[in-house]
Amino acid sequence: MKLSVIGSGYVGTVAGACLAEMGHDVCLIDRDEERIRSLQRFQVPFYEQLLPELIRKHAGHRLYFSTDFSGPVRDSAAVFVAVGTPSLHNGEADLSYVDSAVREVAKIIRNYTVVIEKSTVPVMTSRAIRKVMILNGAPEGNFDVVSNPEFLREGTGVTDFLYPDRIVVGSPSEAATDVMSGIYAPLLDGSYYRREDIIVPPAEPRSTPQWIVTNPISAELIKHASNSFLAMKISYANVIANLCEAVGAEVEHVCRGLGTDSRIGEKFLRPGIGYGGSCFPKDVAAFSSVARELGYRFGLLQEVAAINAEQQVRFVRKVKGALWTLRDKRIAALGLAYKGGTNDIRESPALSVIRMLLDEGCEIVAYDPAAMDKAAKEIQSERLTFAATPYEAVTNADAMMILTDWKEFAELDLSRIRKLLKYPIVVDGRNLFTPQQMETAELIYHSVGRTESPVAETLAFDATKS
Ligand code: UGA
Repeated sequence: MKLSVIGSGYVGTVAGACLAEMGHDVCLIDRDEERIRSLQRFQVPFYEQLLPELIRKHAGHRLYFSTDFSGPVRDSAAVFVAVGTPSLHNGEADLSYVDSAVREVAKIIRNYTVVIEKSTVPVMTSRAIRKVMILNGAPEGNFDVVSNPEFLREGTGVTDFLYPDRIVVGSPSEAATDVMSGIYAPLLDGSYYRREDIIVPPAEPRSTPQWIVTNPISAELIKHASNSFLAMKISYANVIANLCEAVGAEVEHVCRGLGTDSRIGEKFLRPGIGYGGSCFPKDVAAFSSVARELGYRFGLLQEVAAINAEQQVRFVRKVKGALWTLRDKRIAALGLAYKGGTNDIRESPALSVIRMLLDEGCEIVAYDPAAMDKAAKEIQSERLTFAATPYEAVTNADAMMILTDWKEFAELDLSRIRKLLKYPIVVDGRNLFTPQQMETAELIYHSVGRTESPVAETLAFDATKS
């Protein structure tokens, strides 16, 4: 099928490349000339596994890039709108990019076209898109607006797109549903997974995705409800971790006992310094704001966000507990990205911890495998410097903090770290190590939701009182 994707951000680029991989002819459109030029040179402006490979595989054959809407949109059976929806100050999503993209589409289409809402938008946006289409001259009956939320995680977006648990389609008509099932047919009938040239072969015989067809408003609500639920699970795990610390329980055991109930599930119960990124914080705020507009006070979500913010404050207190005073302490910060496997620092809990410690007068030496350039632009402080390796970061530091769950941090040579640190103190906000590993390396270890080793307990200061 001929398809257009408007917006070459993270969602649009992953969707465009994956739709080409599934066998469609795709044009990825963006007003940003520089972005389009770099994609034409196979340069992906963000760190995403397999995306450069997919772009190299399909660019010029099944995947095209353009700054011009008219030709590609006119020829497309469906147009994915995947432009940005940043947060406004009051938590509402800014839909102005969606508005202007849809106005352009309305003026261009000639034949029946399905306009697919792919950006994460507040519930009922599909209705507004429909009105904008009509106001801008698109005849009713010549288009349908479908909500097709994405559930991609940054870092694993390509495999999430090609191997989804479910595909949700909020469609107002049979014609639109037919177009959508044509688009996703290679995944739904399993033919994609049997192909020889597939970018990631299936790990094991797998069932095809669940195909969930509903109306557009319900599909929009599914996206809000899914992200908020996952954020709630993380905040729940964080509260459980805090209670574990208070009573001397082990959070991993508790969360395992909790998550192995198939009604609950083990995923997204990892405690730490809280969730970040461009999705959960924004979506929790947007869902609360939608509820408020509808006259409902979604206190549960407000508490989810409050627990998340508090988790970073608690972590700073933990660092203080390990070091007694913070002013002029040199602390190594391993991790800046909001999670491992990405260079994205938006709403990163790591940066919020670093900001608080800089305010306390600490000197921070940071290392991240991918996010240092972005972080250097975001936080400008002469007390924040960057190291070329984790070992350089910890050299002569008063303590080492782990703030992002990068796989390479879990593989660090702990005895080397021990020798390089000024004091053998590690404060781990992501529970990447076991207390036993740290004890063997003779490091004093503080983590989240676990009982402290006798040494760590004896040597900790009471940060709540100082
Ligand atoms: C999230 C959702 O997982 C996707 O399904 C959704 O499509 C996407 O938002 C979106 O709306 O676009 P993403 O933000 O890329 O994806 O990352 P996640 O892997 O979900 O992690 C989010 C945050 O939660 C990270 O800061 C991560 O460190 C944290 N997290 C995750 C925890 O603290 N504990 C966990 O157990 C899991």
